[in-house]
Amino acid sequence: MYSQGLIGADGRTEETQDFLDRFQRRIDAEEKIEPMDAMPAGYRKTLVRQIGQHAHSEIVGMLPEGNWITRAPSLRRKAALLAKVQDEGGHGLYLYAAAETLGVSREEMTEELHCGKAKYSSIFNYPTLSWADIGIIGWLVDGAAIMNQIPLCRCSYGPYARAMIRVCKEESFHQRQGYEICMALAKGTPAQREMLQDALNRWWWPVLMMFGPHDADSLHSDQSMAWKIKRFSNDELRQKFIDATVPQAEYLGLTFPDPEMRWNEEKGGWDHGPIDWDEFWRVVKGFGPMACDRIAARRKAWEDGAWVREAALAHAEKRRARKMAAE
Ligand code: 3HC
Repeated sequence: MYSQGLIGADGRTEETQDFLDRFQRRIDAEEKIEPMDAMPAGYRKTLVRQIGQHAHSEIVGMLPEGNWITRAPSLRRKAALLAKVQDEGGHGLYLYAAAETLGVSREEMTEELHCGKAKYSSIFNYPTLSWADIGIIGWLVDGAAIMNQIPLCRCSYGPYARAMIRVCKEESFHQRQGYEICMALAKGTPAQREMLQDALNRWWWPVLMMFGPHDADSLHSDQSMAWKIKRFSNDELRQKFIDATVPQAEYLGLTFPDPEMRWNEEKGGWDHGPIDWDEFWRVVKGFGPMACDRIAARRKAWEDGAWVREAALAHAEKRRARKMAAE
């Protein structure tokens, strides 16, 4: 029996049912799919979408924290924050490189970000109003990112899985530096504790939204899980994150801005109140509080960096010509 006989990702392979079944058997056997392997067009498209969105999130994610580098309260904090923001830039580059193995160029991905076609994580559309926000971002935003990304180290697509291993190691340092900032503020003056609680109040719900819509409303989860791109559903990861975070917040003496949060003995996890999905979709559609600033900053950085890209290309061309002349 044949499917619609689509031409697959490599532009040659016909997507017969037999081809799709063989591909699925490789996935089920936990074989890694590599760039030169034949793959269904849908698999490639899903990866380009997800890895591209992930790369953009890392790059746009440099902005809210970069905003505090000049205002970090000590040299030690400044050095750690600077290193963290640079790490995020590096993560973006590994991820763009992983996406490029699927035949899409960084220029194309960047263009899609700038014109609003490609998404980036909703969380980076919120402003960083106080130093406590930097602690909360490290603790919770990076904490949520780790919860989501550790399973991606086992993603079926080799280049993405391998990139995620290093990314996750660095993210765990980011999470600890954030929690350490929160600990210092929690042990500080009443004003510092109040600043920390205020930051948690503003960031908690947007952090829960990072995991994406509820499973019932998730467009891609079922297929992505069948292809072992995603290993856990959005709700499963959100629940794991909440369960891991509650004791950490208790240790800091913080209260969640969710009156409905309570331990559920039966499920062995924490229940939470309703998430404001209208807010989520507004932000995802480009109407977040900082959306215009974020895209304007990325466009400016891309335009300002044009001469660097041109110089690097000219240098590479000169080296290539010299090498050819010497051969
Ligand atoms: N922000 C923006 N868009 C989101 C989103 C979010 N938090 N959650 C879901 N969406 C979008 C999806 O992209 C999809 O839109 P599309 O069809 O136009 O692409 C739509 O909402 C429906 O959601 P689905 O659940 O069907 O989408 P996915 O199956 O792709 O799941 C995901 C969403 C869980 C975010 C998944 O894509 C994923 O695991 N991505 C990789 C990790 C990632 O990108 N993380 C971003 C944060 S990185 C970061 O935080 C940097 C760190 O240094 C702090």
